[in-house]
Amino acid sequence: KGTSRIDERGRLEIGGVPAARLAEAFGTPLWVYDEALIRERLRAYQAVLREAGVTYDVAFACKAFCVRAMAELVREEGASLDVVSGGELYTALQAGFPPERIHFHGNNKSDAELALALAAGVGVIIVDNFDELERLRAFAAGERDDLLRAVAAEVGLPAGAAGPAGSAGGRRPIDVLLRVTPGIHADTHAYISTGQEESKFGFDLGSGQVATAIERTRAVPGLRLRGLSIHIGSQIFSPNGYLAAVEKLLGALPLLPPLDLEVLNLGGGFGIRHVEEEAAPEATALLRAVVDGVKERFRAAGRPLPALWFEPGRSIVGEAGWTLYRVGAIKDLPGIRRYVAVDGGMSDNIRPALYGARYTALLADRALEPATEAVSVVGKLCESGDVLIERVMLPPVRIGDLLAVPATGAYTFAMASHYNRLPRPAVVFVRDGRARLVVRRETYADLVRHDVPLGEVELPLGAEERF
Ligand code: LLP
Repeated sequence: KGTSRIDERGRLEIGGVPAARLAEAFGTPLWVYDEALIRERLRAYQAVLREAGVTYDVAFACKAFCVRAMAELVREEGASLDVVSGGELYTALQAGFPPERIHFHGNNKSDAELALALAAGVGVIIVDNFDELERLRAFAAGERDDLLRAVAAEVGLPAGAAGPAGSAGGRRPIDVLLRVTPGIHADTHAYISTGQEESKFGFDLGSGQVATAIERTRAVPGLRLRGLSIHIGSQIFSPNGYLAAVEKLLGALPLLPPLDLEVLNLGGGFGIRHVEEEAAPEATALLRAVVDGVKERFRAAGRPLPALWFEPGRSIVGEAGWTLYRVGAIKDLPGIRRYVAVDGGMSDNIRPALYGARYTALLADRALEPATEAVSVVGKLCESGDVLIERVMLPPVRIGDLLAVPATGAYTFAMASHYNRLPRPAVVFVRDGRARLVVRRETYADLVRHDVPLGEVELPLGAEERF
C-alpha cells in the first residue's frame, strides 16, 4: 500500500527511502510514516463525500496520532481536526491549525480546557453531558471571563482572541453539537465500542436525555445548537452499525423537541487491516456505503439531509505507519517456541497487550528470503505479556536484523509510555526519497526532566510551584 515496496534485493523501502538507511540515521525503534499515503487517505475521504454531493466535513481524529507535523499536514490537506484534550488542542494551535476547523470532543472537559477552546475560538464543541452544558452556560454568560483571559495569556493567544468574549450582548455564540449515544452495539472490541446504552459517553437516546439536553441547550442564549454527534466505536468494517444508529436517531427525532438538524456527525471508526488474513473493505468503500445508506434513510423519513461530518483517525494514519525495530536477542525452546526480542515493545505499541491486536512483520533487509521459521516477536519490557506478535513466519532471524512492523501508524505513538523508563522513539515522515524528522527521540535527560530530588519541593508550595 502507498509508497512502500520491497526492492528486487528484498529490501524494504518506504517513501523512496530504504528502511535500513532510516534505522541507521535515526536509530531504532523508529516510527516511519509514508506521508503520501496519509495525504492520499485524507483526499480520498473528501473525494467520496464530494462525489456523493453532500455537505461534509472530514476531521482527522488526532487521538490516533497527535503531533505537530501531523496537524500541519492535515491543515495543508484542507481537512479539519478532532481534538479531545487541552494537550491535543495546544498541539494543533502550535501547528498553526485554524481554530475554526477544530472540533472539541471529550466526556470530561475541564474548565481550563473549555477556556482554552473558547479563547482559541474552536469551530465546534461536542457536548457530552449535562455538567458540561452547565459549564458552557457559565462561559456563555460571561461568568468565566477571568479564566478565559488567564488561559489565553498562559498559552500566548492574542488578547481579545477569546471566543465568546467581547462586551456582554455582543458575544459570539458558541457552536455546539450534542453527543448522542444511540444504543447500538458496534461489532468490535468492547474497549473501543462506544454506542451502547451503558456507554460513559454522550446523552442516552433511549431515556429522554437527548430531549432534555436539546431543551437546556436552547435555553442558553450564547449556545448555538448545530446538530448531533454519534460515534459508535472503532475498528469497524461494516456500514451496518452506522446505519442502525441513524435509523434509531431518525426514529427518535419525532419525539424530540423540533430540531433543525444542520449537522450530523457520524464520528470515526473505519477499520484497517493489520495482517493479511483479515478481510477488510477499503475504508473509502465503507464510507461510501455509509453515506449512501444515510442519504437513503433520510429520504425515506422525508427529512432534509444534514451536513455529514466524519472523524476518521485510524484509517488515515494506521496503514501509513511502520515501526522499525532491531533484533537483539533470540531464545529457542526447541519444538515449543522461538522468541525474537526487539528493542521496543509494549511501551511503543500497547495494542497487542491491551486489545489482543494482531500484527505481522518482515525482515527489512531480507524480505524475499523464504519464510521458514515461526517465531514470536517480543519486546524488551519486563512482562510476559510484552508480546508484539504471537506468531509470524520469517526467514531465519539473526541478531542485528531490522524488523519492520507495518500498519502501526495509529494508537501506537499516541499510546506510548515510559514503562521501564524507555525513552520514546523518534518519528519520521518520508516522501519522494526525503526523510524528515517530526518527533525527536527522547533522551535519558528527557526521562528525568520532571523528577524532583527528594526534599526539594514540599508543602506549602512557593508561588512558582503552585499548580
Ligand atoms: N471520534 C470519536 C468521538 C472517537 O471517540 C474516536 C475514537 C474517533 C472519532 C476516531 O476513531 P477511529 O477512526 O480512529 O477508529 N485506542 C484504541 C482506539 C480508541 C478509539 C477511541 N475513539 C485502539 O488502539 O484501537
